[in-house]
Amino acid sequence: MIPHQEFGSKRDSSDGFESVDLNDDGRDLPRHVAVIMDGNGRWATMREKSRVEGHSRGAEVLRDLVRWSQERGLAELTCYALSTENFQQRPSDEVDSLLNLLGTYLKSEREELDRLQVCFRVIGRTAELPEETQVLLQETVDLTRKNDNLVLRLAVNYGGRAELEDAARLLRSSSEFTSLAQCLYEPEMSDVDLLIRSGGEKRFSNFLPWQLTYSELYFTPVLWPDFSEKEFDLALGEYSSRSRRFGRLPNREAEAE
Ligand code: FPP
Repeated sequence: MIPHQEFGSKRDSSDGFESVDLNDDGRDLPRHVAVIMDGNGRWATMREKSRVEGHSRGAEVLRDLVRWSQERGLAELTCYALSTENFQQRPSDEVDSLLNLLGTYLKSEREELDRLQVCFRVIGRTAELPEETQVLLQETVDLTRKNDNLVLRLAVNYGGRAELEDAARLLRSSSEFTSLAQCLYEPEMSDVDLLIRSGGEKRFSNFLPWQLTYSELYFTPVLWPDFSEKEFDLALGEYSSRSRRFGRLPNREAEAE
């Protein structure tokens, strides 16, 4: 167990950028996709439904996204379920509903996640969550710990600045660690290759500032409850057309040097 994140196990982190795989078409496939699932509230309002119904539909899309990711051979999928700002600033009944939805999701999905060999993880200030939610999260992590297919990571009461503050505090207080990267919530998490944000906004909203540094970005106006397999493939296709350089020269120019 590590000091600030009881749900993860600590391994050495890598600062490498080795993350390109090829799919069946020989196209570049991201290894790690992160998703900001935005637009549930607007989707619901447009249909004169409650915001909670929008989140509920959003949770169904998350369920589908796990399957699509696995079918395409991604290694990691990290989704923003609840930010520290949502947790502190949304009306308490909406936060309670989201936590209930999370509980329902975990109870109904964990056997299926395990069957699919998905390894479930969670990042965030989870110790501040209700006890019941913490137990369900821990049980799901424990059940799926040994699975070696897709890693599904949910960010719950997560904030990027909070993660960096917590990491700095851990680094300062322990002689066991020598770099900030080792003190993040999940040091073994690879850098994000592709960030998808639905709902039309073009911002990061305090999501994974360390891990998104070199990500390719894909913004779509589609509201999260309407996000489809086709939209996912559009994002992956867009990713495969990008030239990633990580501060280096483009390949052709580098060869000519
Ligand atoms: C942002 O939409 C979305 C969230 C705050 C929560 C995201 C959560 C889900 C998609 C479902 C959660 C899944 C589980 C398993 C709990 P918004 O409400 O800010 O939408 P808006 O911008 O249209 O108001």
